Amino acid sequence: MSEYETNQFAKDVLAGLSSEPKYLLSKYFYDDRGSKIFQEIMQMPEYYLTDCELEIIKTHKQDILEAIFTHARAFDLIELGAGDGMKTKILLEYLYDKKADFQYVPIDISGTTVKNLEHEIKALFPGIGVVGQIGDYFHLLEEMSRQNGVPKMLMFLGSNIGNMDQEQSIEFLGKLRSVMNLNDLLLIGFDLKKDPEIIMKAYDDPHGLTAAFNLNLLQRINRELNADFDTDNFRHVETYDADSGTAKSYLISQQEQSVYVGSLNQTFGFRKGEVIYMEMSQKYDMEMIRGLAENSGFEIVRNFNDKRQFFTNSIWKPKT
Ligand code: AVJ
Repeated sequence: MSEYETNQFAKDVLAGLSSEPKYLLSKYFYDDRGSKIFQEIMQMPEYYLTDCELEIIKTHKQDILEAIFTHARAFDLIELGAGDGMKTKILLEYLYDKKADFQYVPIDISGTTVKNLEHEIKALFPGIGVVGQIGDYFHLLEEMSRQNGVPKMLMFLGSNIGNMDQEQSIEFLGKLRSVMNLNDLLLIGFDLKKDPEIIMKAYDDPHGLTAAFNLNLLQRINRELNADFDTDNFRHVETYDADSGTAKSYLISQQEQSVYVGSLNQTFGFRKGEVIYMEMSQKYDMEMIRGLAENSGFEIVRNFNDKRQFFTNSIWKPKT
């Protein structure tokens, strides 16, 4: 990370650990180790989200891409939070076979992830233009607004939107809307409300991967901010509220303890049973999705669901 980013990380950790209740920001999960653990999470059978979205993209790739492909001679496919790009490869393969004139712009917070992805896509589909971007996409969006070139299809898959509460989502989507032209499109994934047991298993998995994913953030603070968290003294707990559709992750201090963060030159006390709020993963129904689109200046063009109706990929266009 750049010095600026490390400073921002330190500031956010200070704010989170000084607050009552304590929290850490889930966007910091994705250092290189965290990104690796997340890829393992996506491969667990319990984490149904990936399979569902893959099914939707495989089944509907033609309809999804026709939305942008048929009326634009050349276009950009911009993916926010690309990760390993597993789902996008299906779309790229389709476009490659059709000899479409497009560029793929994967954006991710993890440098290693973007570099690996760039390398892999170039090897799989020689000749495709791949322009990887590393960074916080909230920040890169502003740069994008200054480029005004070919039509764009923005992709925000995996129900990544679920990490934001309603207010943050509307702000984020509104920002996206403000950098989009009228013939640009947004392809966005939403995890739907369903049997709470299925959701709990995805986030409280028997392999301990979700726990490791959360604890890695404490280890990241140890590594990057010279702290002395003992991860054995924290336990991961998941909650799901079926009415609101909100899943939340916490780390719970197993004993009274204090943690020193060297870069902040500060000690933080934890009571036995005190929680650190780590992440929310919102689940949606169609009414909530319509509300989000409406309140951020979009119109829903079409929704694609998987067979079990666990997940939806929605195509939105800017509302005039
Ligand atoms: C990448 C934000 C979609 O919330 O489901 C997976 C991250 N956290 N397991 C999600 C995550 C715990 C994931 N998103």
